[in-house]
Amino acid sequence: MDKSQAREQIAKLSEALHYHNYLYYVKAQPEISDYEYDMKMKELEQLEKEYPEFASSNSPTKRVGGDITKEFATVAHDRPMLSLANTYSEGELQDWDQRVRKGLDDDFMYVCELKYDGVAISLKYENGELMRAVTRGDGVQGDDVTANVKTINSIPLKLYGDDYPGSFEIRGEIIMFREPFEQFNKNRINQGKQPFANPRNATAGSLKMQESSEVAKRPLDCFLYSLAGDYLPFDSHYDNLQKAKKWGFKIPDYFAKCSNLEEVWSFITEWKEARPDLPFDIDGVVIKVDNLEQQQELGYTAKSTRWAIAYKFPAEQASTILEKITYQVGRTGAVTPVANLQPVHLAGTTVKRASLHNEDIMEQLDVRIGDTVLVEKGGDIIPKIVAVDKSKRPTHAKKVQFIDKCPECGTKLSRKEGEAAYYCPNEQGCPPQIKGKIEHFISRKAMDIISLGEGKVELLFDRGLIRNAADLYDLKFEQLYGLEKTYTDELTGKQRTVKFQKKTVENILKGIDESRSAPFERVLYALGIRYVGQTVAKKLAAHFGDIDSIMNADKEDLVAVNDIGERIAESVSDFFNEQSNRELIQRLKEQGLTMQAEQKQQKDNHLEQKRFIASGKLKNFSREGIKEAVENNGGIYVSSISSKLDYLIAGENIGPKKLEKAKSLNIPVISEDDFLEMINK
Ligand code: IVH
Repeated sequence: MDKSQAREQIAKLSEALHYHNYLYYVKAQPEISDYEYDMKMKELEQLEKEYPEFASSNSPTKRVGGDITKEFATVAHDRPMLSLANTYSEGELQDWDQRVRKGLDDDFMYVCELKYDGVAISLKYENGELMRAVTRGDGVQGDDVTANVKTINSIPLKLYGDDYPGSFEIRGEIIMFREPFEQFNKNRINQGKQPFANPRNATAGSLKMQESSEVAKRPLDCFLYSLAGDYLPFDSHYDNLQKAKKWGFKIPDYFAKCSNLEEVWSFITEWKEARPDLPFDIDGVVIKVDNLEQQQELGYTAKSTRWAIAYKFPAEQASTILEKITYQVGRTGAVTPVANLQPVHLAGTTVKRASLHNEDIMEQLDVRIGDTVLVEKGGDIIPKIVAVDKSKRPTHAKKVQFIDKCPECGTKLSRKEGEAAYYCPNEQGCPPQIKGKIEHFISRKAMDIISLGEGKVELLFDRGLIRNAADLYDLKFEQLYGLEKTYTDELTGKQRTVKFQKKTVENILKGIDESRSAPFERVLYALGIRYVGQTVAKKLAAHFGDIDSIMNADKEDLVAVNDIGERIAESVSDFFNEQSNRELIQRLKEQGLTMQAEQKQQKDNHLEQKRFIASGKLKNFSREGIKEAVENNGGIYVSSISSKLDYLIAGENIGPKKLEKAKSLNIPVISEDDFLEMINK
């Protein structure tokens, strides 16, 4: 093959692949087999490798991704991406219709569309080729995610026909269909990864990934819903959409022209009912004035368009029967009541379980076994019960008594004053608590040992190899190699066995080893102390600087940290008062985990963890300022005078009672100048 033949063949294959891609992903009517498609792709790849000068940036081979984006460039939209005013109410929709009528002199038409629940995108085409894809961002500028978007098969890289404008933008929504989303989530769970709460979150997460070849593996799709440009073919939004369809865009058939509000309303009612059966999520209907000139005439408010509005549906709900209540024990020992339901179809999935949160909510709802309950999917993975239909309650339906013993280990549960949850206090011996703590320890935001997915922790626990986080660091190759795990495939229901191969074990051990260098605040968070989330862990790490200082801090010292209240202080101090936790820390220390904050090493430590308090008016410091000065120099600022205090800094007009108290406790009283001298040493 010579050069010109190669060029020709590349052009021919590219065209064929664009076309078959379109038939498969946009029209869902393939004409060739997957095998034939793959063969053509292979041939093209090979030719492009040999003749890179003929490989275009929009070649079908680019769909697999490969480009790595370190940081997405921020780019300005040619035209701002405005948002829609929302309403849930029929009355407000009527008001809007009135305003439209008042604003327009002539007759007009509406177009009703579905409001796809995904992530907005703007695509720019020049001479029929995709040039740029930008997220909505703040509406004025967004992220350039072109490399990622090119991997989405239903987005054309090259257009058909010869009647598209030389330059235009088309906007739409990137989504994940429900079924591929479920499948994708199941795979994640099997790999020990955190599932996504819904298709929208999965879509948003995917678009932000830095490696486009990873994005290519996500089942993303895209519906387009509006064109923008100076030379659009028609004055009608509706006609433009129909036209764009011919150019190869995926524009679903779910849109209709309506001549008045009644027709709009029947479109809304129809889709509200059909919504559960759609293969993708929608959260409402968008109503637009069809004519582009009339759109202009109506114009915009500061935030949104006057010519379009979104009528939003409430969250999808389904009603079903409550069969029984079981109880789940989390890593902190908190016991959550779980409603076991007669399976019901809700927002694209079958729901069998829903959270009942806690005893109070159970009481409020007054749920009984056999009740008909209303289930709703919110932003969480687990649906919740929002109401009980008491009119359908069977006679003699039994009231449910919250359990008093742990369902996992039998220990008597306790409920603290002022708290909603019951806890199993058997922290060291209750299996889900032990496993949950280790799972939390390895999780992404904690020690980030991703090579040890959830399923693996379970296995290591069952084989008696781990009982706490420190045990991870003692694991040896021989203990892990060849271990077998059997699980039930959620999709097929079949039993499957996986064996720990050499590579798996090496990865696990490598991941564990690397976690030794995770920063101190992560270690602190990883310990799973109740109420110590990432933010609190950061604050504690920054304030105290190392693990010993935190372990030796009493409640008063802890409360002195900004934003740390009684509840957290008590929890932290309880945790470190527990002998087994102290032993755990000791072992983790010996294993070489980071137990010191980075800053502390640079921080001046003149004050050597001594406790200070100031009283009276100071010349050089504000209230906050003195606290900061103490902390920045390695001291601890406390909130009251007690025997633990090391120095009282006396300002002007210090109250005599304070001085007396300090004296009686034998606490040295120093002046502000003495303090300055101490820190300037
Ligand atoms: S039109 C000025 N049509 O809803 C009108 N938006 O704030 C611009 N959306 O995230 C939007 N389906 O991406 C329009 N058929 C549809 C839509 C739609 C979903 C999203 C849009 C944006 C939000 C509107």
